[in-house]
Amino acid sequence: MTRTVYVNGEYLPETEATISIFDRGFLMADAVYEVTSVLGGKLIDFEGHAVRLKRSLDELDMAEPCTKDELLDIHRKLVEVNDIDEGLIYLQVTRGSDGDRDFVFPSADTKPTIVLFTQNKPGLADSPAAQKGAKVISIEDIRWGRRDIKTVQLLYPSMGKMMAKAAGADDAWMIEDGYVTEGTSNNAYIVKYGKIITRPLSNDILHGITRKAVLRLAEEAQMEIEERLFTIDEAKDADEAFTTSASAFVMPVVEIDGAQLGNGTPGTIAKRLREIYLDESLKAAI
Ligand code: PDD
Repeated sequence: MTRTVYVNGEYLPETEATISIFDRGFLMADAVYEVTSVLGGKLIDFEGHAVRLKRSLDELDMAEPCTKDELLDIHRKLVEVNDIDEGLIYLQVTRGSDGDRDFVFPSADTKPTIVLFTQNKPGLADSPAAQKGAKVISIEDIRWGRRDIKTVQLLYPSMGKMMAKAAGADDAWMIEDGYVTEGTSNNAYIVKYGKIITRPLSNDILHGITRKAVLRLAEEAQMEIEERLFTIDEAKDADEAFTTSASAFVMPVVEIDGAQLGNGTPGTIAKRLREIYLDESLKAAI
């Protein structure tokens, strides 16, 4: 089915949507993005994604393409016209184009480009992958130093997923100075003696919207949390592990670099957090 997408103020069939070949998102990866999940036809944590989008834009001195209310309307309209019950909404804002290629930013009155499209994913909440758990490998983290800004520089994360695939795994965790930063497209956690351990927020990792919600819910459920660095060896020796992201919620990890965690099936804390997160997110969805 041809999707209806949103490009710079217009709703169009995906086959008719265009942007300039001079767009800085295309030429320079001068662009930021958000991925928001849809469950039961409603948006999960729209507010969190809108706030992070604003932060990413501000950090790069990029103009806001529209107000938060307009953004919400666009999200809702795309969900409706594309009849999405479970899936994702991808949003990208670029610095636009002034009709040529130049390293220097275009003048401040250059209009940003805004694109949104939906991805229909029936069964997203009830995913068989989450029931099985993911296998991850570790790779060196060679990304740039501002990973807190959600830019579209996704070549290395894509290569990481390909390295994982080639190794017969599902994903990769990245390592810097001996410590795990995050997954290619998710935040990383280990559990030892019932305690959830995850890297604290800094410029080294994306400030996950799912991370924030899951840590709040874990605290409310009286679970113990420690925000600190951890090594891949510590992770391999953990009782369980998991990742969080808007596209996979809470995903149990059952194997790291070939080392099985626990009995090789999703851990109790990861499973419980996935349940709580899905329940609470559905209740708060708009
Ligand atoms: N990725 N870390 C990285 C590097 C990510 O790309 C993502 C999200 C996360 C988790 O953030 P959140 O909980 O806000 O989704 C952490 C999205 C889903 C993607 O690129 O498709």
